[in-house]
Amino acid sequence: MLKTHSCGELRVKHVGEEVTLAGWVNRRRDMGGVIFIDLRDRDGKTQVVINSGHTPEGFALAEQVRSEYVLQIKGVVSKRPKGLENPNLKTGEIEVLVDEIVILNPSKTPPFRIDRDEAVDESLRLKYRYLDLRRGKMQRNLTIRHKAIKFIRDFLDERGFLEVETPILFKSTPEGARDYLVPSRVHPGKFYALPQSPQQLKQLLMVAGYERYFQIARCFRDEDLRADRQPEFTQLDLEMSFVERDDILDLIEELMIGMVQTASLVPLATEPFPRLSYRDVIERFGTDRPDLRYGMELTEISDIVADSAFRVFAENVAAGNPVKAICAPGCGSYSRKQVNELEAIAKEAGAKGLAWLAIHPETEEIRGPIVKFFKVEQLMAITERLGAGPGDLILISSDTRRVVNEVLGALRDEMARRLGFKDIKELSFCWVVDFPLFEEDMEDGHWAPSHHMFTAPKRADIPLLDTAPGQVLSEQYDLVCNGFEVAGGSIRIWERPLQRKIMELIGFSWEEAEEQFGHMLEAFEYGAPPHGGIAPGIDRLVALMAGEPNIREVMAFPKTAQATDLMSDSPSEVAQKQLDELHIAVVLSEKEE
Ligand code: AMO
Ligand code: AMP
Repeated sequence: MLKTHSCGELRVKHVGEEVTLAGWVNRRRDMGGVIFIDLRDRDGKTQVVINSGHTPEGFALAEQVRSEYVLQIKGVVSKRPKGLENPNLKTGEIEVLVDEIVILNPSKTPPFRIDRDEAVDESLRLKYRYLDLRRGKMQRNLTIRHKAIKFIRDFLDERGFLEVETPILFKSTPEGARDYLVPSRVHPGKFYALPQSPQQLKQLLMVAGYERYFQIARCFRDEDLRADRQPEFTQLDLEMSFVERDDILDLIEELMIGMVQTASLVPLATEPFPRLSYRDVIERFGTDRPDLRYGMELTEISDIVADSAFRVFAENVAAGNPVKAICAPGCGSYSRKQVNELEAIAKEAGAKGLAWLAIHPETEEIRGPIVKFFKVEQLMAITERLGAGPGDLILISSDTRRVVNEVLGALRDEMARRLGFKDIKELSFCWVVDFPLFEEDMEDGHWAPSHHMFTAPKRADIPLLDTAPGQVLSEQYDLVCNGFEVAGGSIRIWERPLQRKIMELIGFSWEEAEEQFGHMLEAFEYGAPPHGGIAPGIDRLVALMAGEPNIREVMAFPKTAQATDLMSDSPSEVAQKQLDELHIAVVLSEKEE
């Protein structure tokens, strides 16, 4: 080794020892005759002192040294003079008096400062990711990621799980996104697809009798990117045989709690995690990814306003539609302009209008354009039901149930952001269960699966597949944390006839199914055990545990929102020879050229 200790290792107990350190120049201070360098490696920083009287040669070298130079120094550990200790540094009680210094490698001036966590333009950070990764925050984030994954592996190993790798060059495994395709050189005109998840393979491992499988698996999806979506990302992919839903929920809940306790900077809000039905969360929070760090629940007031003089509400209720509201605490003095902003958000979510009631903080007088349509008792009943008090703002929506929930869900989100509830430093998990098997809207006369086509319907609902598929509930479950979906899974269909029926409802002809999933359908004929599984998204979980708003902050080499890698400049063009070998001709439209 070129060093005897790391830069984070030395303490008072090492005083008097001769040591060799190697690392980067974090900062250099020239005090005239004495140069102080903070030498940095992944483990920490150590102050090294180069005295011109003690080592004239070393001093001459130290004068040339600049930020991010790579040095090796030999010297003696010494206690810092009283009053000059640095309590912010693990090694702050000591320094190393340098006898010898070697410049292992100089460095160009970096495009941004490494020694501080100051804001830097993200594209610059991504272009020089190897420098960005030297910075404290990125090291911290990747360490959290490592600890989380190590915890997962140990936890599952102790419980008899086997980690099995599955191929990256595979066949389309649809999870609802577009596939990344890889052309085959040896089979002209044929393609592999990168897996959107190892879904089929893990089910086949259950047929193979592996019972408890997991994998830290890379998944690939060509979809529109967002703060919580990358084209390639990592799942803890897991599957078990002979289990029921709650076996998987209990296991994953225990895993999540342990992982958070081991790796997270942000503490857990509550355990056990609430288990809420899909219907319930939609009605209470307007989304199937509820953020439970705060209240502001959607509250129905249809019965109170049914016979009010406000025709929109009265008529909607008469037609069987709801009137619902949320209460934004402390927003009762919102200006007309501020309310208009909220109305614009409501309209974007599908509303025709947004009604509101503001309660004066002192006089408790209620103002708003619809106040005149209501009797005092009705206003009282509304404020009481919403728990609204002086200084609060009530936002009311009426439309179809679906629109109302969507609108108020969007407003709840917006108000939480405005009120700082999104900054609450805790992890609030919940399970969402009892999803409908199919999405509400049919696509081209066929049903679209809410999760994926291998998800089992609830046993009791199977007869409904023939009469009312829209009402069938499934064995799907999602784990949600702070408004993000952090895991999804289900108990699977393991019988071929049922799988066939679901495929038909989805609009997969038997021929298509045979072509795409023939291997699976056939496997199901060889004694497939009842099985189910789940896939927590590692990137999202680590981002939440690190308190980061974007999963790029917890990935070593992420892609931009345009799915590019700024560091290696990929995707990029390839040589004609490569294309020829792959039997590929690139045809760009005029716009693309
Ligand atoms: P699903 O598609 O719900 O389920 O994905 C599981 C979890 O993976 C994470 N995730 C992503 N993270 C980052 N970038 C993305 N583009 C991205 N897409 C998904 C989410 C999500 O909850 N095979 C099934 C699981 C199963 O049924 O066992 C599956 O992939 O956190
Ligand atoms: P109007 O009488 O149409 O001017 O509406 C009075 C108030 O009710 C305005 O603030 C509208 O935005 C609001 N409003 C209209 N339609 C709805 C609706 N369907 N749900 C909630 N508020 C509405």
